[in-house]
Amino acid sequence: MEKNFYNIVGQKIKDSKYCIIFTGAGISVESGIPPFRGKDGIWNKYDPEFLYIDNYLNNPFSCWKVIKEIFYDYFSNIKPNKAHIVIGNLYKKGFVKTVITQNIDNLHQEGGCENVIEFHGNLNKFICLKCNKTFNIENISIEEKPPFCNYCKFPLKPDIIFFGEAIKEDAIKKSIDEINKADLLIIIGTSGEVAPANNLPFIAKRNNCFIVEINIVESIFTKTIVDIFLKEKASIAMEKIELEVT
Ligand code: APR
Repeated sequence: MEKNFYNIVGQKIKDSKYCIIFTGAGISVESGIPPFRGKDGIWNKYDPEFLYIDNYLNNPFSCWKVIKEIFYDYFSNIKPNKAHIVIGNLYKKGFVKTVITQNIDNLHQEGGCENVIEFHGNLNKFICLKCNKTFNIENISIEEKPPFCNYCKFPLKPDIIFFGEAIKEDAIKKSIDEINKADLLIIIGTSGEVAPANNLPFIAKRNNCFIVEINIVESIFTKTIVDIFLKEKASIAMEKIELEVT
């Protein structure tokens, strides 16, 4: 039975005209990054208040301490896992056109995919909230608490979407444009609890897109819009799918 599902998904990928992958924190769990929700979730250990934009603006020093601890110290030596690498391979072979990710860890790029829409930004970039100048992480010192803008001495923030911040127009537009082209959407490792990212799979479904989901438990998508649910860890499922495609 299981072999059939992977075989069907492999065939769907080979036959698809525009396959898109939509990912969440679950795809990076096997790289050592905890998810946000669920039993080992980051939000079980840390109060998300440090990631609210108003709080950051009012208390950059105390917020930065937690942000650095979680997103820079803890994430510092993470590597792409098999799931990221298989997606990179399928991208290079032309089977996958785009990855839309909610993740901020840069692992899809490091896994070989060159067309990644980062719905919530990227930890390797910083932005000054006063003059809007952006900086790459290698050009600033994150040891400062928090890093300051070289030009206006205002605190920098990681160029990721904080709670209370709007998603960048560009990310939304590009994601919807891509989703509207998809005839196959593979959802990997997301609870689907966060809007507006969680609207994207529903837009795909309205376009009669075939939807595959890979997760270790059901999400809000599973019983509503998913056509094939592969209850498996991302790296194992993607390894099996790669065998069916190539
Ligand atoms: N393989 C596949 N899925 C997994 C694995 C794994 N090895 N481990 C966990 N998962 C699944 C969980 O079952 C869960 O459904 O990954 C999902 C992670 O869900 P969340 O922690 O809610 O992460 P995500 O959906 O990406 O959250 C969206 O919330 O806090 C914000 O900005 C943050 O981008 C994040 C957004």
